[in-house]
Amino acid sequence: MISYEKDDAGIVTLTMNDPDQSANTMNAAYVAAMTAAVDRLEAEKEQVTGVIVTSAKNTFFAGGDLPMMSQARPEDAPALFELLGTIKRDLRRLETYGRPVVAAINGAALGGGFEIALACHHRIALDAPGTRLGFPEVTLGLLPGAGGVVRTVRMLGIAPALMTWLLTGKRLKPAAALEAGMIDEVVGSPEELITHAKAWIAANPDAAQPWDRPGYKIPGGSPSTPKLAVQLPAFPATLRKQLKGNRMPAPEAILETAVEGAQVDIETAFQIESRKLITLLTGRIAKNMIGAFFFDMKAVNGGAARPAVEVPAATRVAVLGAGMMGAGIAYACARAGLEVVVKDVTPEAAARATQEGDPAVLARIKPTADVEDLRGCDVVIEAVFEDPKLKHQVFAEVEPVLAPGALLASNTSTLPITGLAQGVSRPADFIGMHFFSPVGKMPLLEIVVGEQTGDAAIARAFDLGRTIGKTPIVVNDGRGFFTSRVIGQFINEAVTMVAEGVPAASVEQAALQAGYPTGPLALADEVTLTLMAKIHKAYLAAGVNAGYDKAHALVAAMLETHDRPGRSSGRGFYAYENGRRGRLWAGLAELATDEGRAVPFADLQERLLFSEALDALRCRAEGVLRTDADGNIGSILGIGFPAWTGGVLRYVEQHPDFKGRATELAARYGERFAPA
Ligand code: NAI
Repeated sequence: MISYEKDDAGIVTLTMNDPDQSANTMNAAYVAAMTAAVDRLEAEKEQVTGVIVTSAKNTFFAGGDLPMMSQARPEDAPALFELLGTIKRDLRRLETYGRPVVAAINGAALGGGFEIALACHHRIALDAPGTRLGFPEVTLGLLPGAGGVVRTVRMLGIAPALMTWLLTGKRLKPAAALEAGMIDEVVGSPEELITHAKAWIAANPDAAQPWDRPGYKIPGGSPSTPKLAVQLPAFPATLRKQLKGNRMPAPEAILETAVEGAQVDIETAFQIESRKLITLLTGRIAKNMIGAFFFDMKAVNGGAARPAVEVPAATRVAVLGAGMMGAGIAYACARAGLEVVVKDVTPEAAARATQEGDPAVLARIKPTADVEDLRGCDVVIEAVFEDPKLKHQVFAEVEPVLAPGALLASNTSTLPITGLAQGVSRPADFIGMHFFSPVGKMPLLEIVVGEQTGDAAIARAFDLGRTIGKTPIVVNDGRGFFTSRVIGQFINEAVTMVAEGVPAASVEQAALQAGYPTGPLALADEVTLTLMAKIHKAYLAAGVNAGYDKAHALVAAMLETHDRPGRSSGRGFYAYENGRRGRLWAGLAELATDEGRAVPFADLQERLLFSEALDALRCRAEGVLRTDADGNIGSILGIGFPAWTGGVLRYVEQHPDFKGRATELAARYGERFAPA
């Protein structure tokens, strides 16, 4: 796992290379190998002039052993405390070895990997495309428990350590990490990595960590110094604002570790850090989040839902419609190096797809109003207005010029794919590729499989999604697919509460405190009430009644009597000024039909969560969802289901009494909550 090589100058290179895995992690093999390496360094100290820590993988070190950590039970706490103690003891022995130790970071150093680097006296990173440095632990409900919190605080001070690194989960590129003071050099080649490391060792025989030098003080002061004491009380508020929702124990544990650890000696600080990590590890939320963001993500991105067929890779993509979505999709494809042609009704309209962004990327996008320019494209992604007739028409127009067998995809957000496929000559090649707005930021791609869609089309859409850096879930066709359908429940449930007389601000607050990134009424304004009304009509026409009559009546009144269609007009549930969301509209209370019904706050939250969870269960029962991983990932990345749950289906599994509570809600608020 760790090789030990000494050169003529007495510099020992420790090269980490886990033989059993594609990346190095802090597993049992690492722990044993690091202890052995440090033992040998100590035994051979007389001949050693310095140490370089590096890796033979294309990443430096991936982080903790998540499969092991996700199984931690409360009774494992003492053993975990021992294990963390061993990991920290060996890194501490390295940093107090009395010889210069340099981390030669040849690729991504995340979590535990970054913690190893921080225990070195000098950090040099290779500026390779995949090199990222940081602590993603918080996004898994964890904290860096191999000295990461303790050392980052001692290196940068409490506030920068928390705000730049520990609480954000950000993975910074080498240049940004250098700027933020966490690494010391960035080099351009693997050779320089080693020559610079050796040069630094030669020049710094007395290297030691700042915190081991006499007179050391934590930068920015300890929590008891007046300046910081003034700032500290504001941290939790800033935290909540940043992380939305108060169900996240990890940020609080990180904050406590940082503050408590800054007031004691380093060994005690390490113990505090271990104890807090173990509390998180043995709790529910970290398991949920590891389950979703590690295991489910791996299954989804690894192609668990992709049919195992060989298909050609996309090369030239046609995008129909240069509106908000079309422009975003075109840019995402071009950024991945694909050649893109964007067609709209006029050259001016098409040119809107080449107005903003990196010129080198925009150069790969050709705007046009001439269908001839689409000749030879092997994929078409349609993003014109949400109108089935228009969609049929544009596919009919472009089909003859496309490459034979071209993939035919629609970005529709609501129209069933099977119906749209009736407008093309090759329905087996027709598929839904549902992107989310804004395309550049939203990581999810919902691939929608129509009744006649073939396996090759699924595989091609999947591969294209991965090429442009999206996480693709694959779902079967249905009204609103998975994401649009489930988020519709969330919004309609919220509007129902307003109609029942619950103050709108309480509804929004309930959602935020449950951990949703945006309140449902703010979301309704984005979607537009006009679209909500349109979707409702389509449901009624199809004979579907989801039990949201009160919500529909309220939306109709908002539109027809009060002319408040949503954000783009500046008037919706909220008022908007210069595009910025202002206050909730005061007239809402008047629209309530059930005068001032008292709904307990817990019910407000659970009505939102359950409305989505129950619909996700129906999606599973109806076969819209093909795997649970798709449901969990789709709900978090696509529609903002609270991340602490690990996804909408995990929420159901982990709820102490989902069925009982659903039955209760059904009795109180309507049959739509009746468990299937
Ligand atoms: P948009 O109104 O911004 O853009 C539509 C574009 O299509 C316009 O530029 C229009 O000139 C163009 N167009 C109309 N007829 C055309 C034709 N015959 N040939 C070529 N171009 C034509 O609409 P937006 O928001 O970009 O939505 C497009 C599609 O994406 C819709 O189906 C929508 O449901 C779907 N969608 C929208 C999302 C959103 O958040 N806005 C999210 C996911 C999907």
